[in-house]
Amino acid sequence: MAQAFHDRDGLIWMDGKIVPWREANVHILTHGLHYASAVFEGERCYSGQIFKSRLHSERLIRSAELIDMKMPLTVADLETAKAEILSANKLTDAYLRPVAWRGSEQMGISAQATLTHVAIACWEWPSYFAPEVREKGISLQTAKWRAPMTETAPTASKASCLYCTHTMSKHAAEAAGFTDALMLDYRGFVAEATGANIFMVKNGVLKTPTPDCFLNGLTRQTVIELAHELKIPFEETRIMPDELKQADEIFLTGTAAEVTAVGKIDDTTFTVGDVTRRLRSTYEDLVRSKNNIS
Ligand SMILES: Cc1ncc(COP(=O)(O)O)c(C=O)c1O
Repeated sequence: MAQAFHDRDGLIWMDGKIVPWREANVHILTHGLHYASAVFEGERCYSGQIFKSRLHSERLIRSAELIDMKMPLTVADLETAKAEILSANKLTDAYLRPVAWRGSEQMGISAQATLTHVAIACWEWPSYFAPEVREKGISLQTAKWRAPMTETAPTASKASCLYCTHTMSKHAAEAAGFTDALMLDYRGFVAEATGANIFMVKNGVLKTPTPDCFLNGLTRQTVIELAHELKIPFEETRIMPDELKQADEIFLTGTAAEVTAVGKIDDTTFTVGDVTRRLRSTYEDLVRSKNNIS
C-alpha cells in the first residue's frame, strides 16, 4: 500500500505556522469532521509558479462564503502562505491542498462560535491518472449518484460535503474495473467526473455542459479560452448521455487531471482524437510558460 498521508516527511502550513507534517492534526470533536463544514482547493505548481494561484485563492474564500463560513485570510494572505510552504518544502513542481474547516470550539449543528482554521499541504504528485492509462484514455462508468439541484446543496462551492457521493461513485466505478465515474445531474444531463469536468467533440465542435449545478472548474475555463484562441468551434450546452456516447472524442479537465482523454464510457469506446491532443499540448505548454499567472 502507498505511504499513508499522515505519515510523511515535510512541513505543513497550519493557522499561520509551519509545522512538521506528522504534527498537523485536529481534535476528534472538530466540527468540520462531524458535519463536513469544510472547503478546499487543489492547485498545481509548475516550475515554481502556481497555475491560476489567485483564482484558486479567490475560489477558496468564495467556497467558504457559500457555506456561511468566515474565512480569516485574504487572497494576499493565502498567496503568501502558499509561497512560504512551497519554499519550506523546497518544492517547485507540486500539488497544493489548501483546506479550511470549522474547528472544535463548539459542537453541534450550530457553529457560530467555531473558528475557521486553514492549512496548506503540498507534495509531489506528477499525474492523477497513470501515464499509460492517460495515453489510451481513461474509462468512465455512469454513476447512480447525481449532481444535486442548487436548492439542495451549495453546488458552486468546492465544499467537502459534496464529495460524499463522488467518493461512492468512484468506488463503484473502480470495483467494476473503470478508472472513474461519470456523474449525471438531477435532471439526467451529463454533469462531470468525480474530480474533473467533461468535454466532447462532435464533427469538429467542442461541447461541454453548462455548469449550473456543479463546479465550473478553472481548467475548464482555461480550456475554453484555449479553444477560442485555437479557433475551435465551441458550445456550452446541455448534453444528454446518448449524445455524449455518439461523440468523436471525449476528455476531462481538472487541476489534478489536467487534460485527460476518455477512451470508454460504460460499453462505448472512443479514440484519442486531434482536438484532444491539440488542447492537451497547448494546456501543457501554458501551465509551464511564464504567462501562467492568474
Ligand atoms: C468535482 C470537481 N469538478 C471539477 C473539478 C475541476 O476543477 P479545476 O479545474 O478548478 O481543478 C474538480 C477539481 O477541483 C472537482 O473536484
